[in-house]
Amino acid sequence: MAWNLRGSVRGSVLLLLLCIVLSGCGICAVAQDVPPYTEDCRSGTYPPAGPTFKGNVPWYTVNLDQPPNERWHQLISHKKTQLTNLIQAIKDLAKSLFASGKIIELVDTKLPLLIGSLPFPFGEEIKGIADASGLPLGEVMLFNIFYEVFTVCTSVVAEDKTGKLYHARNLDFGLFLGWDVKNSSWMITELLRPLVVNVKFQRNNKTVFQSTSFAGYVGMLTGMKPGVLTLTMNERYSLDGGYIGILEWILGRRDGTWMSFLTRNVLENATSYEEAKSLLSKTKMLAPAYYILGGNKSGEACVITRSRESCLDIWELDIQQGRWYVLETNYDHWKEPLFVDNRRVPAMKCMNRTTQQSISFATIYDVLSTKPVLNKLTTYTTLMTVSDGNLEAYLRDCPDPCMPW
Ligand SMILES: *[C@@H]1O[C@H](CO)[C@@H](O)[C@H](O)[C@H]1NC(C)=O
Ligand SMILES: *[C@@H]1O[C@H](CO)[C@@H](O)[C@H](O)[C@H]1NC(C)=O
Ligand SMILES: *[C@@H]1O[C@H](CO)[C@@H](O)[C@H](O)[C@H]1NC(C)=O
Ligand SMILES: *[C@@H]1O[C@H](CO)[C@@H](O)[C@H](O)[C@H]1NC(C)=O
Repeated sequence: MAWNLRGSVRGSVLLLLLCIVLSGCGICAVAQDVPPYTEDCRSGTYPPAGPTFKGNVPWYTVNLDQPPNERWHQLISHKKTQLTNLIQAIKDLAKSLFASGKIIELVDTKLPLLIGSLPFPFGEEIKGIADASGLPLGEVMLFNIFYEVFTVCTSVVAEDKTGKLYHARNLDFGLFLGWDVKNSSWMITELLRPLVVNVKFQRNNKTVFQSTSFAGYVGMLTGMKPGVLTLTMNERYSLDGGYIGILEWILGRRDGTWMSFLTRNVLENATSYEEAKSLLSKTKMLAPAYYILGGNKSGEACVITRSRESCLDIWELDIQQGRWYVLETNYDHWKEPLFVDNRRVPAMKCMNRTTQQSISFATIYDVLSTKPVLNKLTTYTTLMTVSDGNLEAYLRDCPDPCMPW
């Protein structure tokens, strides 16, 4: 029985992997037809307006004093329809890829058996979200796993002349997930936008940390602990990548941590930059990742490049040496980015042109609004300053002509 169960779950995950690999090949073929939709560094884009701005991100409060299976109820009751739409689209996509409902059946029947293997409070929270939305538990679990695999982004932490730290990111999500030819957009990215929320996590009526997140998702990709730290996570692709780790987790090897659960644990529990840095560089994980971490005083910011087992590199601010910002996309900073996906050089070019004297929310928003740093996958832009606990997030769009990623 146990073996059968594992066999089927493994089957469904292998199908998912196959889907990823096949789409990966698709993109090689497409790449040649894609002109490089780059542009000169933008200016005057802030406050956000015009066709690349799709609205403000609404705020919600999650009370950590409530039991985990109840704390998401209010948010999910507001976002039920949008969440159902997205999960339906993921199911349709899976069906069209495999021409059978088999994979969804496996997700619905087999994944829920693993809910108890998720660390506290994540399993309980996911159960609560399934209850509140009326969606099958396995599909909500799948939705939570998806973010560990399909996120590409740009993150930057910069220090101004007075020592004030700015941390900002574009979150680009939905790569490979259904290119809509008629609309020239990524279907999943479009459906994801209405799920973007800002969340204040409170304990004893006091905000512990804040995050820009997706309704229904319990991990964290972007967050701030006011007065203490800011943190974003970017995907890191590697041969010993997430798929293997996730597969091993499903097969019963549970000694690694989900990457976005670690991000949330750090936001919730770390009390200093140094402690966060240590947790993010030492915890064993299911997949490689980049953690972009900012502290609360001059010089405190770094990009942590992680393999599953260890920390490969910590790249820090060095004001003396003129390194007043660190910027990460989805490639190791000491290597060249993939030639079809070079968001790093345009972003750095614009940061350099901005100069340390002029860094602000407005100028960073300009950098993150410049194609291809802004592209068709860009779902939101978040701007954070730890010193005054300010977090602003904006929904984004990139009308044609624009890079698909
Ligand atoms: C394309 O966009 C239009 C308008 O935004 C929308 O009504 C339509 O459903 C979209 N088509 C698909 C296939 O998503
Ligand atoms: C939080 O604030 C509300 C309203 O101000 C109050 O009723 C409640 O008792 C407070 N809860 C805690 C845990 O302090
Ligand atoms: C920075 O964080 C440390 C550790 O939490 C704290 O002791 C210190 O007061 C903070 N500094 C500022 C300026 O907020
Ligand atoms: C930006 O400036 C840094 C520091 O001077 C330099 O190392 C880097 O090559 C520059 N990058 C671009 C794209 O201009």
